[in-house]
Amino acid sequence: MLGLMLFTSVHADNLYFSKIEQATISDKQLAETQQQLQDYQTVTIQKITLPPFHKRSEQTSKTDSFCTLCHLDLPHKDNVRLRSFLNMHTRYIACETCHFEVKNVKFDYRWWPELPKNNKLWQPHSTAKITPFSQEKPVIDSSTHPLFQQVKEQWKNLVLSEQAKLKAKIHQPLTETGCSKCHNDEKNILDLKQLGASESQQHAIEQNKIAHFLARTKDDTAIRLIDLLH
Ligand code: HEC
Ligand code: HEC
Ligand code: HEC
Repeated sequence: MLGLMLFTSVHADNLYFSKIEQATISDKQLAETQQQLQDYQTVTIQKITLPPFHKRSEQTSKTDSFCTLCHLDLPHKDNVRLRSFLNMHTRYIACETCHFEVKNVKFDYRWWPELPKNNKLWQPHSTAKITPFSQEKPVIDSSTHPLFQQVKEQWKNLVLSEQAKLKAKIHQPLTETGCSKCHNDEKNILDLKQLGASESQQHAIEQNKIAHFLARTKDDTAIRLIDLLH
C-alpha cells in the first residue's frame, strides 16, 4: 500500500498533486500499466561487438523537476518525426506546459524560477523555463514539496504492482499539447509579449514555418525542406 499512502490531503494545495490525489484508476488501466512497466523493464540493450570510435558521453544533466525524477531531460524518442523538436523545447519549456491542462482552468505562463527583474529581453535562460501558474503558484511545486521527496525516495523500492498504481496516478491528469498551441497567432496559450518577446520575436514564433508544416501534414509525410518554403 506504500504507493497510495503517498497521497494524503496535505498535498491538496498544489493543483497537479491534487489532481493525482483525485485520480481513480480502473482495474483495466492498472493491469495495462503493470504490463507497460514489465515490458519496459525487460528491454535489454544489445551489446555492440566493436567499441564505438567516438566516446559517448553519459547524459549527465538532470534537471531537478518532478518529471525528471524518472524521465531524462531529453525524454522524447517514440515519434521519430517530432522527437528532436520536442526535446529541443525542454531546454526552455517545462514539461507541464505541454503535458498538463485542466478543463476550464486558464493558466498564466511565466518564466520560472523568475528571471532577474532587469531581464526584459526574451532570453532563454540556463535555468528558467516557461511554466504554468495557477492562482499565483506554479502548478507543480518545487523539489522541496513532500510528495516530490517521497516519490524520489520510494519509487525505486516499490514492488511492480505499487509502481503501476503510482505511475497510473501520476499520468492520469497528463495530456500532450501539439505545436499549434504556441505557434499560432490567434489562440496561443502563451502571452509572448508578457514573457518578454519583442514584436519580431513574437512574429517569428507565431509564424514558425517548421511548426506549421508539421502540424498540417500527416505523420507519414516525409519532411522535405523545400516544402517549408510554401
Ligand atoms: C515516478 C516516476 C515517474 C514520474 C515522476 C513521471 N513519470 Fe512519466 N512515465 C514513467 C514511466 C515508468 C513511464 C512508462 C515508460 C516510459 O514510457 O518511459 C512513463 C510514461 C510517460 C508518458 C507516456 C504516456 C504514458 O502514460 O505511458 C508521458 C507522456 C510521461 N510519462 C510524461 C510525464 C510527465 C510530463 C511527468 C511530470 C509531470 C512524468 N511523466 C512524471 C514514470 C514517471
Ligand atoms: C513543446 C511541448 C513539449 C514539451 C516541453 C515536453 N513534451 Fe513530452 N511530448 C510532447 C508531445 C506533443 C508528445 C507526443 C508526441 C507523439 O506524437 O508521439 C510528447 C510525448 C512524451 C512522452 C512519450 C514517449 C516518447 O518517447 O515520446 C514522454 C515520456 C514525454 N513526452 C515526457 C516529457 C517530459 C518528461 C518532459 C519534460 C522534460 C516533456 N515531455 C516536455 C510535447 C512536449
Ligand atoms: C508550449 C509552447 C510550444 C509548443 C507546444 C511548441 N513550441 Fe516550438 N517554440 C516555442 C517557443 C516559445 C519557441 C521560441 C524559442 C526561442 O525563441 O528561443 C519555439 C521555437 C521553435 C522553433 C525554432 C527554434 C529555433 O531555434 O529557431 C521550432 C522549429 C519549433 N519551435 C517547432 C515546434 C514544433 C515542431 C512543435 C510541435 C511538435 C512545437 N514547436 C511546439 C513554444 C512551443
